[in-house]
Amino acid sequence: MEQSQELRGKWALVTGASRGIGAGCALALAARGADIAVHYHRQRDAAEQIVAEVGAMGRRAALLQADLAQPQEVTAMAEAFQRVSPQLDVLVLAAAATAFKRVEEIRPHHLAKTYNLVVGGMVQLVQEVLPSIGPGGRVIAISGQGTDFTLPGYALLGSAKGAMEVLVRYLARELGGRQITANCISPGVVDTDSARFYAQDTYPEFVARVAAATAVGRIGTAADVAAAVCFLASPQAGYITGQVLVVDGGLGLSSLPFMNQDTSP
Ligand SMILES: NC(=O)c1ccc[n+]([C@@H]2O[C@H](COP(=O)([O-])OP(=O)(O)OC[C@H]3O[C@@H](n4cnc5c(N)ncnc54)[C@H](OP(=O)(O)O)[C@@H]3O)[C@@H](O)[C@H]2O)c1
Repeated sequence: MEQSQELRGKWALVTGASRGIGAGCALALAARGADIAVHYHRQRDAAEQIVAEVGAMGRRAALLQADLAQPQEVTAMAEAFQRVSPQLDVLVLAAAATAFKRVEEIRPHHLAKTYNLVVGGMVQLVQEVLPSIGPGGRVIAISGQGTDFTLPGYALLGSAKGAMEVLVRYLARELGGRQITANCISPGVVDTDSARFYAQDTYPEFVARVAAATAVGRIGTAADVAAAVCFLASPQAGYITGQVLVVDGGLGLSSLPFMNQDTSP
């Protein structure tokens, strides 16, 4: 189906756009007309492929590299973006990495890596690119269900995403007067490298279990999340701010003891 081109003339910077949800967001935003700055950390080939796909849609694309846990690299990346475009319209924060540990196993370096990337990188990148974001601008951060539910091994990333959700509410309040919105999207389980890494060898069983517990009967795709990002980036979403939009196919609707029952009592 022909996509609306309502983001034509806008620049979107997507972090973690080499793979998974970030890559899906970059492609979906480009399909709606946006020019895309594709950020990656280590996977240059994969990021170059996304740049090529954006270019094939007739949109401009720039490649940006940074370890977003390193403040000087965040600054260098923001400067690199400003050389590409003086204007930024949509900032999508999708990059993340963590160690899946029980709280009692978390060591200072685990904490530093996850928090410096997810919380520190978010705050600093927003600060550095905000001068380029004008009225109608969007900040869209990808959170996760580990903020509301206790998922095995998820304390570190879940708590960092909790901070992300709170930061988004403050950003919404602070930036609203400039007609800039800030929101989170909270996906359920999405078929990406990180979901495979989380489940390790049990991935097929994990997918089957999650699908069975999800109202729509399947796990999510990057495109499912990207569609919600495109909505929040669109002019129609200008009155939505400070929210967490759950995109989980209804995974969070059922309580475990009732999971395999139909809806009749
Ligand atoms: N998959 C899920 O089920 C799920 C569910 C809920 C929320 N989420 C969230 O959605 C977002 C994307 O997840 P995903 O599953 O698509 O992840 P993914 O496939 O593992 O991709 C992670 C991305 O983050 C980048 N990255 C990793 N470490 C980085 C660092 N130190 N500095 C900068 N970038 C870094 C990676 O870059 P390189 O490839 O270049 O190394 C990659 O682009 C994450 O915030 C995740 O927490 C995912």
